[in-house]
Amino acid sequence: MRNMLVTGGAGFIGSNFIRHALVYTHINKLVNLDLLTYAGSLSNLAGLETDPRYQFVQADIRSRELVQNLLLEHQIDTLVHFAAETHVDRSIRQPEIFIESNVLGTFQLLEAARQAWDGSFSGKRFHHVSTDEVYGTLAAGEPSFSETTPYNPRSPYSASKAGSDHCVRAYFHTYGLPVTISNCSNNYGPYQYPEKFIPVIILNCLMGEIIPVYGDGRQIRDWIYVEDHCRGILRILEDGQPGETYNLGGGNQPSNLEVLEQICAIMDRKRPGSPHVPHHNLLRFVIDRPGHDRRYAMDCRKINAALGWQPEENLASGLEKTVDWYLDHMDWLLAVARDEKYRTWIQTQYKEES
Ligand code: NAD
Ligand code: TYD
Repeated sequence: MRNMLVTGGAGFIGSNFIRHALVYTHINKLVNLDLLTYAGSLSNLAGLETDPRYQFVQADIRSRELVQNLLLEHQIDTLVHFAAETHVDRSIRQPEIFIESNVLGTFQLLEAARQAWDGSFSGKRFHHVSTDEVYGTLAAGEPSFSETTPYNPRSPYSASKAGSDHCVRAYFHTYGLPVTISNCSNNYGPYQYPEKFIPVIILNCLMGEIIPVYGDGRQIRDWIYVEDHCRGILRILEDGQPGETYNLGGGNQPSNLEVLEQICAIMDRKRPGSPHVPHHNLLRFVIDRPGHDRRYAMDCRKINAALGWQPEENLASGLEKTVDWYLDHMDWLLAVARDEKYRTWIQTQYKEES
């Protein structure tokens, strides 16, 4: 039975993780600490309010004393750290908050854990959720990223995640804090905020808006269904070794254009009467992202051999489920799409660049 603190649990992966963990593990108590930035919403956790094991705290991970008090008050033994600024395009426009939340925030959490657990680290775990983007970019044919690939971040987002990963490792080596790190590839699935590519495609198909494709659209990502990522984190919490890093990926490498075509084909099939069929006609090439990483690919042999983890969804099955989820949760999607904060972002990011 665990007492768990999850940071960033009102965001995309964090909310999926909380739902998953409450079903699949023995949890005594789960405290979700989230600042509720534009990316976090309590609607992502609807239905959990009545679960006696679950509690929400609206706070900033940079509030070290508050976090320390939570760790002590709830006798937290397991901290799973998702909270971060996460969108590369926003990091290009406003890098400072990425350094603040991702680097400084992670540092404050590490300090809070070190002090609250006060050298009594037995049975404790600080799990840090990171990204494949810290490894940089791959050319076609280059081998996938492994856990020993040197860090080479190229956007303010990935640099801030790399900085936080380094801090987490330093706390293991210097203080013996029992940390684990997972570096995962691009996630997709329910509750993803429609600033990221896959929900942008789905939303714009539904609204008949243009689907912006950066540059030539031949960039490659390794897409993982979010539930597979959540299962991987739980496996690491169960049997991962302190001090170790584990790479997770979906095991596929489509180009952005291929992803767009697959989703548009699903939409054509599921919405045959839509005036926007064929949906791929909504595609527009727009100016490329500065420093756009060309290709990511993950070598997941370590977690497979050590913990028996592998993804269960393939891209076709995962995209089908994802589109179904958004079609079944149009209220969630339209609430975000009509929100002033979202409209402002779309206006800033796309209207002046197309
Ligand atoms: P998200 O943007 O959907 O959610 C982030 C959450 O963190 C939000 O709920 C937000 O309110 C909260 N938050 C931000 N700053 C905070 C602060 N200072 N204090 C407290 N809460 C704060 O992000 P996501 O896509 O769910 O990503 C979660 C984690 O997984 C991040 O650390 C990200 O780097 C990592 N990751 C994401 C992906 C991906 O494809 N989305 C892939 C690999 C790793
Ligand atoms: P994104 O979902 O932002 O994830 P990341 O940048 O972290 O990989 O983008 C995925 C890919 O899709 C990336 O190559 C950028 C591209 N992209 C577009 O072509 N158009 C868009 O509107 C967005 C948001 C992304």
